[in-house]
Amino acid sequence: MKTRASVQTCGKLYLAGEYAVLTAGQPAIIKAVPIYMTGKIQTASAYRLASDMFEHSASLEPDSDYALIQETVAAMNAYLLTLSCEPRPFSLAISGKMEREGRKFGIGSSGSVVVLTLKAMAALYELDLAPERLFKLASYVLLKRGDNGSMGDLACIAYEDLIYYRSFDRAAVSRRMESLELQQLLAEDWGFEIRRIKPRLSMDFLVGWTKQPAISKDLVNQVKSAISESFLTGSRAQVDALEQALLAGDKAAVQSSLEQASQLLEALSPAIYTDKLKVLKEAASGLNCVAKSSGAGGGDCGIALSFDTASSDQLIRAWQAAGIELLYRERMGRDEPKSQG
Ligand code: PMV
Ligand code: MG
Repeated sequence: MKTRASVQTCGKLYLAGEYAVLTAGQPAIIKAVPIYMTGKIQTASAYRLASDMFEHSASLEPDSDYALIQETVAAMNAYLLTLSCEPRPFSLAISGKMEREGRKFGIGSSGSVVVLTLKAMAALYELDLAPERLFKLASYVLLKRGDNGSMGDLACIAYEDLIYYRSFDRAAVSRRMESLELQQLLAEDWGFEIRRIKPRLSMDFLVGWTKQPAISKDLVNQVKSAISESFLTGSRAQVDALEQALLAGDKAAVQSSLEQASQLLEALSPAIYTDKLKVLKEAASGLNCVAKSSGAGGGDCGIALSFDTASSDQLIRAWQAAGIELLYRERMGRDEPKSQG
């Protein structure tokens, strides 16, 4: 066991598959965003949890602000016991609140904090937590809390990559939780699929922040009754097409699948595309790029993939003129000729 450690977790944004991925077995493509949270942990005589989100710190005594972190600590302590490790108190300081001027970016801070706490404790105990194990533990914490999400955010943050995620039946795993020991539960196949995607196409990934905070949980509750079989079929087709297009380096197919994924969301509920998100998307028309809302919508961020620098610059200028801030920009993927034979 170490006496101290420092770990980080990234943010995430959906490229495609939002809402559909809430239905077990449906896929989404989610990208890691390297805007980080940091956790500094050290052994201590008593538990002390501190986050720059709050003015106060907490122990393990119930504290509503720290409930998510406390439940993560409890889950990790239970996991340590399954490994015959004796849990010891520590102090954990979390910083990097993924917001500016009190407005959150909407890039996955709650999922990130769970993965961060798990990673920090694993580092202290010198445990090698593989991404899949990290994902299952983080999902376990959120399922215990009755979270209504797909866990796609956790998958992306645990793998810290561009991923294809096919969701599992959360209700079924929650039921199994009641009768199984943690160790057995973790050993089971939950039925999800997570794989990394390495795009064979270089492009700019741009994130536009609307500065209008949205609460995914509320949007999900508002929108979920509109999710139909035809929406699911359409979304799956576009997500699968997007993965294939990224792998094949097929720019036109990338553009078209994201465009169609966007249209499916727009038709799903008027709550998703706010006026600002409509501007964010429409700013791409006529340019060599494609833009859409990301995640639950209703505010937060939208994303764009752009295939030349002039288009990126023009898109960013249009966003700025509409009060949409460029939160992040990355040259992603790599042009690679298809291997022969
Ligand atoms: O707004 P975000 O980035 O938290 O994404 C939510 C995506 C949904 O599919 C709408 C919900 C979920 O948990 O998958
Ligand atoms: Mg959101």
